[in-house]
Amino acid sequence: MSQQSTLESAAENGSNGDTVTIMAIETSCDETSVSVVTASPAPDGSAVPFVLDVRSNVVSSQIDIHAAFGGVVPEVASRAHLEMMEAVTAQAMDEAGLTMGAEPPAVDAVAATCGPGLVGALLVGVSAAKGMALAWDVPYVGVNHMEGHLFATFLERPSIELPMVVLLVSGGHTMIVEVSAPGRYRYLGSTIDDAAGEAFDKVARYLGLGYPGGPLIDRLAREGDRKAIDFPRGLMDDSFDFSFSGMKTAVVNYVRRYPDVSNADVAASFQEAVVDVLVTKTIRAALSVGAKSVCLGGGVAANSRLRERFAEEAGEAGLESLIPDRSFCTDNAAMIAAAAHWRLAADGPSPLDGGADPSLLLPTT
Ligand code: KG4
Ligand code: ZN
Repeated sequence: MSQQSTLESAAENGSNGDTVTIMAIETSCDETSVSVVTASPAPDGSAVPFVLDVRSNVVSSQIDIHAAFGGVVPEVASRAHLEMMEAVTAQAMDEAGLTMGAEPPAVDAVAATCGPGLVGALLVGVSAAKGMALAWDVPYVGVNHMEGHLFATFLERPSIELPMVVLLVSGGHTMIVEVSAPGRYRYLGSTIDDAAGEAFDKVARYLGLGYPGGPLIDRLAREGDRKAIDFPRGLMDDSFDFSFSGMKTAVVNYVRRYPDVSNADVAASFQEAVVDVLVTKTIRAALSVGAKSVCLGGGVAANSRLRERFAEEAGEAGLESLIPDRSFCTDNAAMIAAAAHWRLAADGPSPLDGGADPSLLLPTT
C-alpha cells in the first residue's frame, strides 16, 4: 500500500483527510509505553514522506520493580506490562485528545513492537494492539524494535540527509547501521560479546552503584577524572565491531589491585574508554560509506559524555549529526509509531496471526 493510498483509506475512515493517526505500544523489555503519533505529507526532498507529530508518549518504567533483583526478570516484566497496559493506554489517548470508543475510530491503525525482546513481554503489547485493532476495525502493524530506534531520528528531523549511519546502543544491542533510505538498512558492525549498556550495568553492579548502571555511572563520572586510569579500548582495530567484556574485566582487575581507588575516577575512566571506541568507530564507519549524517539511538544514547563527543567529532568530520531527545533514545512507543507509519505505507497491515519474535533481526538489504 502506498503512503497516498493509506492517506486515502484514512480519509475514508473518517479521519482528518491528509493525516494518519497511529497508536503504538512498546513492551519489549521493562518500559510499558503507549503513544499516539500523526503523520502528514512531507515537503519534497525529505528523507521520509511524512512529518510526524507526537501527540502523546506515555512511558511507565518498571525499573524500581527490577532494581531489587539487579536486572530485568522476564516473568515479572510480563506481569507488570499486563497490569499497566490499560492505564497507560487510557492516558496516551487522553493526552492526545482522543476518545476510546469514538465512531469512526479515533486512530487509523494500532501498532506494537513484535520483536526483538522478551517474548512474554512482547506478547502483552502485541495482544493488546491486535485486540484494539480488531475492536475498532483498523489495521494492526507489527514493528521491529530496532527499526523503531532508527525511526526516532525521523521523529525529530524528517529532513536529515541520507545516507546516514546510526549507532544503536542499548542494554541488549550495540551496532552500527547504515540507513540509505527508510527500510534500507545495512549492518556495518556490532558487538562480539556484551552490549555497551550491559557493560555499564555490570561495571556499576561491581562498584556497588545499583541498577540500571548506565545513568549511575554517567552521574558519578562527572565527579571523576576521565584520564585517571587508562583502561584498554576493546577491539580498536579496522573493523566496525565492538568488544566490551575485556573492558569490564579490566575494571574488575584494577579495582582488585587498587581497592582504595576512587569510584568516581573508575566510572569516568571506564565511561571514557567505552565512549572513545563507540564514537571513533561510528565516525570512521560513516566516512567509509560516504554517509552524510550520523545519529545516535538506544538507551546508552542518553549518556552525557557520549552525546558530547559524538556531536563534537561528527562536526569535525563534516557530518550532520542528530542526537534525539533522551525521551526518544530510551525505549518509547513514539519511535514505534513512527516506524509503523512507514511500514503501513510501505507494506500495508500486518497479519493478525503474526506473533512475537524474541530474536527478530533488522531487515537488511
Ligand atoms: O534502549 P534501552 O532503554 O533498553 C534496551 O536495552 O532495549 O537501554 C537500556 C540501557 C541500560 O543498559 C542502561 O544502563 C543504559 O541503557 N543507559 C545508559 C544511560 N541511560 C541508560 N548508559 C549510559 N549512560 C546513560 N546515561
Ligand atoms: Zn531499545
